[in-house]
Amino acid sequence: MNSLSSMVVPILYLLSAVCFILALKLLARVRTARRGNLLAAIGMLLAIVGTLLELGLIDYRWIILGCLVGGVLGAVAALRVPMTAMPEMVALLNGCGGAASALVALAYYFSQAVEPGRVGSPTEVLGGAQAIMVAASVLIGGVTFSGSLVAYAQLQGKILGGRPVLLPLRHVWNAALLLATLGLGGYFAFGAETIEGGQTLVLVETGASLVLGVLLVIPIGGADMPVVISLLNSYSGLAASATGFVIGNNVLIISGALVGASGIILSQIMCAAMNRSLPNVLLGGFGTAEASGGGEYKNVRSCTAEEAALVLESASSVIVVPGYGLAVAQAQHAVRELCELLERRGAQVRYAIHPVAGRMPGHMNVLLAEADVPYEQLVEMDKINPEFKHTDVVLVIGANDVVNPAALTDRSSPIWGMPILEVHNARSVFVIKRSLGAGYAGIKNELFERPNTMMIYGDAKRVVQDLIKELKQT
Ligand code: TAP
Repeated sequence: MNSLSSMVVPILYLLSAVCFILALKLLARVRTARRGNLLAAIGMLLAIVGTLLELGLIDYRWIILGCLVGGVLGAVAALRVPMTAMPEMVALLNGCGGAASALVALAYYFSQAVEPGRVGSPTEVLGGAQAIMVAASVLIGGVTFSGSLVAYAQLQGKILGGRPVLLPLRHVWNAALLLATLGLGGYFAFGAETIEGGQTLVLVETGASLVLGVLLVIPIGGADMPVVISLLNSYSGLAASATGFVIGNNVLIISGALVGASGIILSQIMCAAMNRSLPNVLLGGFGTAEASGGGEYKNVRSCTAEEAALVLESASSVIVVPGYGLAVAQAQHAVRELCELLERRGAQVRYAIHPVAGRMPGHMNVLLAEADVPYEQLVEMDKINPEFKHTDVVLVIGANDVVNPAALTDRSSPIWGMPILEVHNARSVFVIKRSLGAGYAGIKNELFERPNTMMIYGDAKRVVQDLIKELKQT
């Protein structure tokens, strides 16, 4: 680095870290999330420019080629991937992050080891702390990479239709393999005596980490996958941080730590919203016995859009509960139009947002923001729950588990204790979905049998459009 670069690079890294921290703050609110995303992108650009300046004279042709290939792939994926497949996309991105961190750490060790005149153990080649960090990056990055690929395949239903794969004695095997991988990493850092020994050990550790990632994720069912993906996101951050220590790059250490911390906080928030503990999710097996795909229903009442419109016409308070089915049907624009129509007729309209409605954190917020629904109308679960008993009509659109009263009444239910939107307390509840089919948890919903509930069967978008048509005619 020349003297100008040595002055500019730390400032660029500092600015980049500040951008990342402020971006996280802005990303926490729907209203400011776009600005947060932009600021994070600027932070990343500053980090790349800083790194290129720090490295000095390098062949820019490869860098430009890499940027072009990565940029085109990213843009095509972002444009083509539907909102409902976002968790799969995040899983792949996490996997790439983990792989990149492990590969950079490996490449650094191998490039140092082959320098002329190098002999001896990884500790002698790299220094003790860096050798440990290479082992850590390979372990965490390897687990993140293969685990994320399994998560992707599970969500796509490519492994046993998304059901958990429960191998006999899996906890024992997993614990043994984890210990063996840690042992290999430790032996690489402190036990290997020659360059060749170090290289062999770190490659075997890489293979073991990849197998461990697969074994840790296959027992986890599709329903818990978003939590696992958020945890793998955290791991990818830790791997990046470890690699930052290996190559002595401060901005990588800081950004990796931010990703690591935010990923683990998000996993905890999701677990709390499902009333599960993180170890319970990670031990796997949820969604096998009970998730049989629904149950027998008695005395379920249904009506047409025309009949529902008659009730809506005279409602003075309406709460919309969006769920995964609304995202599948892409009914958000139609729902906003319906709500505007009801407001013009004098009704107070709000949207009740459950923290794990849909398939990813903030799924409903993003969807409704896309349709320009005013943020003030989005009310979180704790605030809206006391309001249901004073509400004339609740429209449950493509939601199921998040309104299932079994969470409050049935101790044997797999979702027992999960906080829900207590829509059953409202005067009338209309549930719009295609059938009595189960939601993600795979269980019966006793809301559908309640006397104040009416089912309106059909695709969410089509039913909402029918409601709009009916209301416009009156
Ligand atoms: P779900 O309980 O999954 O129910 C969605 C319902 O949408 C289904 O029962 C389905 O019924 C209906 N549906 C599907 N396509 C439709 C369409 N085109 N039109 C109308 N309805 C349609 O959804 P939810 O209430 O949003 O709950 C989310 C679940 O995911 C919870 O169990 C939660 O724990 C889990 N989960 C979420 C997250 C995050 S971060 N969001 C993370 C982990 C787990 P039909 O087939 O009868 O139409």
